[in-house]
Amino acid sequence: MRVLVTGCAGFIGSNLCQALLDEGHVVVGLDDLSAGTRQNVPAGVEFHQLDIRSPEIGRVFGGCGAVFHLAAKNCLPDCMEHPVETADINVRGTVRVLEAARVAGVRRIVYADTSAEYEGIGEFPSRVDRVHPVSTYAVSKRSAWHFCDSHSRLHGLRLTTVRYFNVYGPAQDFRRVVPPVMSAFIMKMLAGVRPTIYGSGAKRRDFVYVDDVNRFHLLCLRDPRTEGRVFNVGSGVNHSIREIFDAIEAQLRTGLAPVFAPDLPGEADVTLADLSESAALGWRPEIGLDEGLRRSIADIRTRVLGAR
Ligand SMILES: NC(=O)c1ccc[n+]([C@@H]2O[C@H](COP(=O)([O-])OP(=O)(O)OC[C@H]3O[C@@H](n4cnc5c(N)ncnc54)[C@H](O)[C@@H]3O)[C@@H](O)[C@H]2O)c1
Repeated sequence: MRVLVTGCAGFIGSNLCQALLDEGHVVVGLDDLSAGTRQNVPAGVEFHQLDIRSPEIGRVFGGCGAVFHLAAKNCLPDCMEHPVETADINVRGTVRVLEAARVAGVRRIVYADTSAEYEGIGEFPSRVDRVHPVSTYAVSKRSAWHFCDSHSRLHGLRLTTVRYFNVYGPAQDFRRVVPPVMSAFIMKMLAGVRPTIYGSGAKRRDFVYVDDVNRFHLLCLRDPRTEGRVFNVGSGVNHSIREIFDAIEAQLRTGLAPVFAPDLPGEADVTLADLSESAALGWRPEIGLDEGLRRSIADIRTRVLGAR
């Protein structure tokens, strides 16, 4: 199948492109490189540097059997600081993607949703049917989802909503002002620098390795039971940020202690996925925390630090 991935130069998108290529699909990638890098895009992807808000994107949708829509502004503090731009990219950009898909006759779309949808709900594990987005980021993702839902109902687009928890693995963006915790810790500790824990380190996150997420993406293309539904994709267990530091330290043995800084605004205290819907399809996360960290460390050592 010819498959389009928006956000193909980002963390999850670039890993997804590789997984699709490995399955023998023809992969078309679209990204404006605002956060992702050209180096991330795997060889073999037909790459187009375009902003999802541009009417020009229509020309790359022709002949595609499915679209994975991942492009988004998604750094929480950045979104909070730039709400107009966040809405513009995440909402208007998504509508542009949906329209391009409709006009080109693409019938299948997978939307990259977020566990931030559960921010305002204090019950765990989070079930797919109760959401309460609060932050600028989460509200923008929710608003965009409503357009996906509406387009699927009005125009017969077969939509699957994949609600990721904290995805980690190779190609995580470590250059952000506040990088994802795993890559931030690993990068600093490999450089012999004490990493920063925001808050007390007690916040608990459901981390899921990117290859497990991609096994679910591939299932979406194969299994019609995924159509018209929302799925949590997490690991179903959570770890405190302090535990993550300790797990990385156990592998690297740097002897470094973390530095503590004030809490970041808008961050949930707990995330934890209820996986009953995705597990009912036979999907289960397979990569445990220690193995996922081992692979992430190896990738940063070879790909990031080795290239310098
Ligand atoms: N990483 C996670 O743990 C996580 C969790 C929940 C949801 N998500 C969602 O998954 C998706 C991918 O996240 P990621 O972690 O790979 O992020 P990422 O920032 O690494 O990738 C996003 C990509 O989108 C591109 N992009 C941004 N604005 C664009 C625009 N206007 N036009 C074209 N491309 C644009 C960026 O350049 C980047 O390459 C996002 O939709 C995000 O909201 C991620």
